[in-house]
Amino acid sequence: MKYHMQTFGCQMNVSDSDWLDRSLNSLGFEKTFIEGEADFFIINTCSVREKPEQKVYSLLGRLNAFHEKKSSVFACVGGCVAQQVGKGFFERFPFVRLVFGPDGLAMVPRALQRLEHELRLKISLLDFEDYYPERGENWPDKMPPQAFVNIMQGCDNFCAYCVVPFTRGRQKSRPSEDVIKECRQLISLGVKEITLLGQNVNSYGLDKQGLEINFVRLLREINRLTGLKRLRFTTSHPKDMSPEAVKAFGELETLCPHLHLPLQSGSNKILMEMGRKYTRERYLELVTGLRDACSEITLTTDLIVGFPGETDTDFQETLDIMNMVGFDSSFSFKYSDRPGVRAELMAPKISEEIKSLRLDILQKLQEEWTLKKLSQRVGTTDQVLIEGPSKRQRPDVWSWKGRDSGGRIVNIEFKTREDFTGRIFKVIFTRSKKHSLEGKVVI
Ligand code: 5AD
Ligand code: SF4
Repeated sequence: MKYHMQTFGCQMNVSDSDWLDRSLNSLGFEKTFIEGEADFFIINTCSVREKPEQKVYSLLGRLNAFHEKKSSVFACVGGCVAQQVGKGFFERFPFVRLVFGPDGLAMVPRALQRLEHELRLKISLLDFEDYYPERGENWPDKMPPQAFVNIMQGCDNFCAYCVVPFTRGRQKSRPSEDVIKECRQLISLGVKEITLLGQNVNSYGLDKQGLEINFVRLLREINRLTGLKRLRFTTSHPKDMSPEAVKAFGELETLCPHLHLPLQSGSNKILMEMGRKYTRERYLELVTGLRDACSEITLTTDLIVGFPGETDTDFQETLDIMNMVGFDSSFSFKYSDRPGVRAELMAPKISEEIKSLRLDILQKLQEEWTLKKLSQRVGTTDQVLIEGPSKRQRPDVWSWKGRDSGGRIVNIEFKTREDFTGRIFKVIFTRSKKHSLEGKVVI
């Protein structure tokens, strides 16, 4: 059977979909990129903000046409929207035959084998587990140079705006033995850079009542693995960033000088309402500590505008702190009500118009900082890991896309037609663009 898969949302969803691909391919299911060829569709959904959820409904509406043409065609909905809407999908879209939440993913390949033969069957995999459900692996012979490794699932923080604790459940750390084993395996398959993934990686192990190592110990263990060139992690919570974790940036050779540290707001009042459990002063202290540990560290963040009760003064405080930190880049969002979260009941709500206005101002400020930060790189050198060919090519030169240690995109031109994927070069940056750099290999 052929399947077509679409993935929305965070890196965790992307990594879940990659696992599903490998697993389905090993069972003989064949992936297609052409919708009209598919015997079934898989949609891996995200419900963190309103828009992605709407996208799923309109996508299912559109895919239903394929089922109307050929009645055996069906759809599977997974991820966070599936966890929340659950069997509601069976009623709203009768051609949906499988719904699965994040904890149900491991059982999806077997479920699909059953759906293939039992044509009237519908399956829902929506239970939460209180442990990290380990998944069988089917690695290909060679992996791309960059890979993600899950170290935990779920979150216990219940920030007032966030649906994640409801869709991914409580925090469940994956046993460190399994994490390290997977890292070793990936390195043996050609992986050079590993990004550890979790909703709140800094609190890794804390759900295991002293029976598991903590996050920094885990970093140290992985840093020691022979053959690993780069280590990254995401996402961090400022309240859980320990002094040891800050110091790790100056100490661990493979740990890349980049931290994504979601700030969300620069106003203490809003941070308190959000339940973030840190102040702007504490955040700034962390930034100073990080820059002391590693002067060239790249800092990126997430910001929300228009949280209930956000005044012009609160918003101005967010802009001020952006100027104080000077983020290399940021993801910014208009606050959107999610079903069941605390902020849904908070007032006063901010109008769409004001939210759009604030988002626009904030994004323009970020663009200025991004430009400035990128242009400061010109003339400096760094190691660049080549990920694959660049999108744009010119005649007689071959352009490759890679990332510097801070995670910025770098395009490099070569005169020879070799495959440079996975190679690491020392590069001098020659030009900065809006969101990327150009560079030359230094010999
Ligand atoms: N509205 C807007 N943005 C949100 N985020 C999470 N929940 C919401 C919401 N209800 C943003 C946060 C988080 C990122 C992944 O998505 O900034 O860090
Ligand atoms: Fe959501 Fe807060 Fe948990 Fe992040 S830390 S996943 S924002 S509840």
